[in-house]
Amino acid sequence: MNDQLKDLAVSLKIGQYHRHIFLCIGPDCCSQDQGAQAWKKLKDELKARNLSLATGPSACYRSKVQCLRICKGGPILVVYPEGYWYGGMTQDRIERFIDQQILAGKPIEEWIFARNPLQLPSDPD
Ligand code: FES
Repeated sequence: MNDQLKDLAVSLKIGQYHRHIFLCIGPDCCSQDQGAQAWKKLKDELKARNLSLATGPSACYRSKVQCLRICKGGPILVVYPEGYWYGGMTQDRIERFIDQQILAGKPIEEWIFARNPLQLPSDPD
């Protein structure tokens, strides 16, 4: 079992990503149609730009989820390691998000409603 999981991780390039994008596809923060359309656009754009199942500083792992506990103003998207929380991420915003946030590393301030960069606690010794 463990070997199967390790093989899967290798095939998904887990261990080589620099970013992880979580997109909530509803149904409470947005309609299921809005969520599905945004997810399809995110998936298609990442693939088209060779950022999915890829390596390099802009390579992204993506996960669709069904709740990030905000439950309004969605689709809600969070990107790590920056920890920027984006609201209203309908399909029409995905292209700019990838261009500006993922490729240029410049947050789109007017769409961000919270920040929570993740860092490991420093070693106490
Ligand atoms: S349903 Fe999207 S944040 Fe809860």
